[in-house]
Amino acid sequence: MNQDIERILFTEEALRHRVGQLGAQITTDYAGKRPVLASVLRGSYIFMADLTRAIDLPITVDFMSVSSYGSGTVSSGQVEIKKDLSDSIEGRDLILVEDILDSGNTLHYLRTVLQARKPASIRICTLLDKPDRRSQPITADYVGFTIPDVFIVGYGLDYDERYRNLPYVGMLKPSIYAES
Ligand code: IMP
Ligand code: MG
Repeated sequence: MNQDIERILFTEEALRHRVGQLGAQITTDYAGKRPVLASVLRGSYIFMADLTRAIDLPITVDFMSVSSYGSGTVSSGQVEIKKDLSDSIEGRDLILVEDILDSGNTLHYLRTVLQARKPASIRICTLLDKPDRRSQPITADYVGFTIPDVFIVGYGLDYDERYRNLPYVGMLKPSIYAES
């Protein structure tokens, strides 16, 4: 796996440090509340696990799964809910946890759908933000790192379902895309 990586963008240590800061910020901002953190699978599973452990509040967690990408590196623009949240979010303070905000298609769609369920509030927490590629009017409330328009893998993020288990975030060698 490591030999397919061109360059490491964020090391394990950098990720741990930044995720700790995000958790501390959420702990301060939601003092006295018990937000529900909803993770958008599959890309955010590792971020979610680390972020929730960096929050010192009586949170609950929930999970949903959407598809928008197929196996390529460019969003199809079509979003479909594959697995919905298990619990009602009515009246809850909802924090949507994403791996990466790219075109914004996924989160724009999800925010609209979830807003209709009448949560007390919705905020978005994304590990990575690629603002250059945004095609929907959406910004995250919490951003781990802002990155340029490069395709990255690791720490939950995949290329064709691989590389999710790399402990760091890195850029794939272009030759890997060329093979498929
Ligand atoms: P959006 O709907 O275009 O904002 O795309 C969001 C989803 O696309 C993310 O949750 C990821 O699953 C995927 N994605 C976007 N950029 C990358 C990338 O650089 N590497 C891996 N997955 C990505
Ligand atoms: Mg994702």
